[in-house]
Amino acid sequence: MATADKSTKDDKASKNVAKKTARASGTKSGTANTETRKKRAQAVATKAAARKETRASQKDVKSLSDLFEHALGDIYYAEKKIYKSLPKMIKAADHPELVEALTSHRDETAGQIEKLEAIFELLGKRAKAEKCDAIDGILEESESLLEDFGTSVAADAAIIFSCQAIEHYEITRYGSMRAFADALGMDEAKQHIDDILAQEKAADANLTELAEDSVNAAAAEYDDE
Ligand SMILES: [Fe+2]
Ligand SMILES: [Fe+2]
Repeated sequence: MATADKSTKDDKASKNVAKKTARASGTKSGTANTETRKKRAQAVATKAAARKETRASQKDVKSLSDLFEHALGDIYYAEKKIYKSLPKMIKAADHPELVEALTSHRDETAGQIEKLEAIFELLGKRAKAEKCDAIDGILEESESLLEDFGTSVAADAAIIFSCQAIEHYEITRYGSMRAFADALGMDEAKQHIDDILAQEKAADANLTELAEDSVNAAAAEYDDE
C-alpha cells in the first residue's frame, strides 16, 4: 500500500475515534449545548424587546393596524381588478359548469367588495384601493395564457389554472388579514373576512373538482390522437 493511502486511512480512523469519544460524552456536551442555546435565545429576546421599544418610541411608527389597513387597501384593489377580469374568462370558457362557477363567483366578488367597504367603514376610513403588484402580475399572466390557450382544446384547463392562482392569492391574503383582525380584537371585521375566506376556499375547491373530474380529461383526449 502506498504511504499516502495509509496515512489517509489512519486519519479517518483517528477521526472516527474522536467522533465516538464525543458521542460517548454526549450527555455532558449536550447539556452545554442546551445552555448555550438558552443563553443565545435569551440574548436574542432581549435584543428584540429593546428594538421593539425603540421602534415604538419613534414618531410615525407603523403598527399592526397600519399593516391591516394596508392589506385591506391591497385586497380591495385586487378584488376590483378580479371582478373586471372575470368576464373575459367567462366568455372564453366552454364547460357549462365552469361558466356557472365563474359567473357565480363574480357575483360573490361583488359582495366581497361591499364587505371590504364595510370593513373600511368600521375603521372609520374612506375605502381606498392600494395598487398591488402581486395581483397585477397574476392577472397579466392569465391574460397572456388566455391569448395562448383561449381558443384551444385546453382553454378550460388554462382558465382554471389561472383562476386557481387568483384564488390561492386571495386565500393567503385573507388568511393573514383574519389573523391580524383576531390579534387586534376586531371581531366584526374578522367575521366579514371569515365569510369571504370561506367563499374563496369553496371556489378553489370547486375548480379543483371540475378540473379533476372532467375538464382535464376532456382536454387530454386530444393528446392521445
Ligand atoms: Fe375574492
Ligand atoms: Fe376569489
